[in-house]
Amino acid sequence: METNALSNQQTIFPGRAPSYDDLIQELDGLLRGERDWLVNLANASALLKLRIAELNWAGFYLWRDGQLVLGPFQGKPACVRIGRGRGVCGTAAARHTSLVVADVHQFAGHIACDAASASEVVIPLELPDRQIGVMDLDAPIPGRFNDADRAGLEVFAQHLTIGTDWPVFIGDATIPPQP
Ligand code: SME
Repeated sequence: METNALSNQQTIFPGRAPSYDDLIQELDGLLRGERDWLVNLANASALLKLRIAELNWAGFYLWRDGQLVLGPFQGKPACVRIGRGRGVCGTAAARHTSLVVADVHQFAGHIACDAASASEVVIPLELPDRQIGVMDLDAPIPGRFNDADRAGLEVFAQHLTIGTDWPVFIGDATIPPQP
């Protein structure tokens, strides 16, 4: 019998390189044989929240009709639509780059969905022809995410993006490429 059952290993603490390897292996296991976007984002958000310590929110915003619209996530109910260039999510998307924000209260334009959030990391999901949206992780403590987290999450996002079939109504091809 084929199973995607997750092991009982303890919650990992990113920042230690092997932990991200484990996390990405688990993601690859979930993606094996399944390419549906909704299924994969739902399970990916659950995996992030389950395995990464000290998160209060983990999930996705997807481009739909020119806005970043809330997708699958784990955490408290969140803002549903983020305009172009708005907040940490819109800024990371517009710049085509991951953003690590150590103190969200110091980020001009930060959108506070959960008052508990103190730090944040946002990773764009990119295809060659369009940007799908962003992956967003929030933590209730300042400075939760470091460069190792960013690097590990970028690989996670890449595997997820490549391992999924994206419907035509999701994505934005108009965001100018990085100079
Ligand atoms: N803080 C984000 C909004 C999304 S919530 O954190 C889930 C932002 O500033 O874009």
